[in-house]
Amino acid sequence: MEYCGMGNFVFLFLVSGLHSIHGDLSYSVQEEMKRGSVFGNIAKDLGLTLDTLSSRKARIESEENERRYCDVSLRSGELIVSGRIDREEQCGQKPSCVLKFELLLESPLELHRVSLQIQDINDNAPSFPTDKIKLEISESAVKGARFRVNAAHDEDIGQNGVQSYNLQRNEHFAFNVQSTSAGTKYGELVLQKDLDREEQKEIKLSLLALDGGSPQRSGTVVIHVTVLDANDNAPVFSQAVYVASLPENAPLKTRVVTVSAADADEGVNGEVTYELGRISDRSRKLFSLDAQTGEIFVTGEIDFEEGTKYEIIVQAKDGFGISSDSQVLISITDVNDNAPVISLKSVTNPVPENVLPGTEVGLINVQDRDSEKNRKVRCFLQQHIPFKLIPSIKNYYSLVTTEKLDRELVSEYNITISATDEGSPPLTSVKVVHISIADVNDNPPVFEEQSYSSYVPENNKPGHSLCSVKAHDPDWRQNGTVIYSLLPGEVNGAPVSSYLSVNGDTGVIQSVRPFDYEQFRSFKVNVMARDNGSPPLSSNVTVSVIITDVNDNTPQILYPAPEGNSFMTELIPKAAQGGSLVSKVIAVDGDSGQNAWLSYQIIKSSDPGLFKIDLHSGEIRTQRDISDSDNMKQNIVVAVKDNGQPSLSATCSMFLVISDNLAEVPELKDMAYEDSSSKLTSYLIIALVSVSTFFLTFIIIILGLRFCRRKKPRLLFDGAVAIPSSYLPPNYADVDGTGTLRSTYNYDAYLNTGSRTSDFKFLTSYNDNTLPADQTLRKNPTDFEEVLKQKAQVNRIAFGVT
Ligand SMILES: *[C@@H]1O[C@H](CO)[C@@H](O)[C@H](O)[C@H]1NC(C)=O
Ligand SMILES: *[C@@H]1O[C@H](CO)[C@@H](O)[C@H](O)[C@H]1NC(C)=O
Ligand SMILES: *[C@@H]1O[C@H](CO)[C@@H](O)[C@H](O)[C@H]1NC(C)=O
Repeated sequence: MEYCGMGNFVFLFLVSGLHSIHGDLSYSVQEEMKRGSVFGNIAKDLGLTLDTLSSRKARIESEENERRYCDVSLRSGELIVSGRIDREEQCGQKPSCVLKFELLLESPLELHRVSLQIQDINDNAPSFPTDKIKLEISESAVKGARFRVNAAHDEDIGQNGVQSYNLQRNEHFAFNVQSTSAGTKYGELVLQKDLDREEQKEIKLSLLALDGGSPQRSGTVVIHVTVLDANDNAPVFSQAVYVASLPENAPLKTRVVTVSAADADEGVNGEVTYELGRISDRSRKLFSLDAQTGEIFVTGEIDFEEGTKYEIIVQAKDGFGISSDSQVLISITDVNDNAPVISLKSVTNPVPENVLPGTEVGLINVQDRDSEKNRKVRCFLQQHIPFKLIPSIKNYYSLVTTEKLDRELVSEYNITISATDEGSPPLTSVKVVHISIADVNDNPPVFEEQSYSSYVPENNKPGHSLCSVKAHDPDWRQNGTVIYSLLPGEVNGAPVSSYLSVNGDTGVIQSVRPFDYEQFRSFKVNVMARDNGSPPLSSNVTVSVIITDVNDNTPQILYPAPEGNSFMTELIPKAAQGGSLVSKVIAVDGDSGQNAWLSYQIIKSSDPGLFKIDLHSGEIRTQRDISDSDNMKQNIVVAVKDNGQPSLSATCSMFLVISDNLAEVPELKDMAYEDSSSKLTSYLIIALVSVSTFFLTFIIIILGLRFCRRKKPRLLFDGAVAIPSSYLPPNYADVDGTGTLRSTYNYDAYLNTGSRTSDFKFLTSYNDNTLPADQTLRKNPTDFEEVLKQKAQVNRIAFGVT
């Protein structure tokens, strides 16, 4: 098997540390090994497990554009041959042939130089430059004369190169091998027995060249000797070695050098022509020799990167084939004709937006095939991106982040990497690396408003949309999907969810039940916006619901009792003058503001000119002095209207008796409604009126006494009106601040006769209860109040109520 001869020498110099070049690994393999042949085990040599090898993406990196000759098997850690390795192609005649490549391991980045010694095998046979060598030898040549014959050449080296020659047995010539001072070998025929052209004009000899390989290979050439008449001098070159220098990419037909040789002979014997001697195939493609002038021209594309030195043997021959050699050495100089090549060796894409500054996201390799200054490369990025290049091992660069990334600001980067060499002019190449930024749920939803409020008229329908909240989350997909929900809480002791609901997708808030302004006027709920990330982020906002009043309560007349329920009678002294307070209609409205702003009107009156009602206070006064001609029984109907849209109203009737004494009143019953026919009621009324009149008279007397000093006592009837406690609306006292009855009212029970119609309470304050707050008629006549109290006192004494 071919594997047997393989040596395996490993020299390992491990240097620890991140991002560092490690020592050489050296292996040796024979040329022309089959693909897949194993020549080393990297896992063993580096002391790495197979898992580590694959997780660190171990791979062989060779120079850009170069063929790959070997690979690393991640399954076994073995180094295997992956392409044909021809030592002769790689290294020509160099005694030692070493291929170099790099073994790359990622995270952390680690680079090992691997050199592969290619061993020669005897795969080439010796060969002669031509298959026929023509020699023209003068018959005058003396014994011992030497005639140069081009040596055979074997691409292989060392033992596998040409070792010996075997000349066909003959009587005239022997064969010798000679070396020039430059070390090149050539053969020569040595004349051992004089030639005689007349005897033998031509001699044909076959020359066998043998190499030392195993198996041995050979090549033959036929030497055709023509025996001539004498020609004494061989051409002589002006220089033993011609040295020329040529820049690469020299145009075709550029003259490289001119060789010249002179021959001392005359005539044909002195005519020199030139021809190429031993020359490599590659040189033959690149250079040509003008046989007449000795000029060497460029005929192919000269590339410094392909070869830097060429050696050509030129022969000068005179007319009869006597020749001499000279060596032409052409060295090629580098021109900056290769732009740097940027290759992306690995990249993390996408990069999560929360990576820390300094995170490595890519690995870049830059190469330039030129040499010296022309291959020195500088690498940089465009400005204003949060990335930079950090030089790593050799010509590797790490691409790292320099700042925090924010996908919501920049979601992708096209990073332009430029590489410029130091040639003149310099060459630049550019590579764009696309990196997208992956989302991380780093933004909570943010509400458009600091807080929301919604005004909703009371008595709303369930399902009524109050308002909608909106929050934005700039994150991606589910990380930016906002879901709304109500935060648990209580309103009036009930869970908020029994009042409101929020649509999780749209943020529309709907009422679940109708609201009653008279129950509560506003409440607050917290709405949370949460995104769908994991973990989710959320924020909350306060939504104030303000219930606005709707005119849904009709005015409620507290005094007198509403029409039909009972009837009230007021007694007016006959002496009452114009403007005297006769009575007062008291009404309340459960609504607020305009909806509770009550106005009073007399809509029906038995004597339209006699009474007037104050539009706002509801106070009924006489318009003129009472005269004897006035009917004793007066009847008015009062309408109480609120100021809502549309307005609601209530009416009540009031019976007024013009009399100084209740006894004068003949048929009270006549004044009652036709339907209030209960006898008992009638009697009670009569009793009540009598008692009232009695007390009124009593009071008037006292008042008369008391006010006798005053010029004109205006208030004959003191206006103390009574409110049946059963008529009070359940919660009108807790309605505050918006203009209806206020809790500052004191209802003191001064009198209780057990009768419904006389179940009176005295108001101690006459604030106009229909005016908005503080815009009140607070002019409580103190003396008037005193009068009331006195009256009450009298009543109490009279009825024995304490
Ligand atoms: C990056 O390059 C791609 C393709 O050329 C292009 O579609 C994209 O818009 C570029 N992005 C930016 C941020 O310039
Ligand atoms: C959302 O954010 C999380 C991290 O918070 C991330 O893992 C996930 O990929 C993101 N989703 C999308 C759709 O970008
Ligand atoms: C609502 O958000 C505020 C800050 O915006 C926070 O202090 C409060 O705890 C949150 N309330 C709830 C119930 O999450």
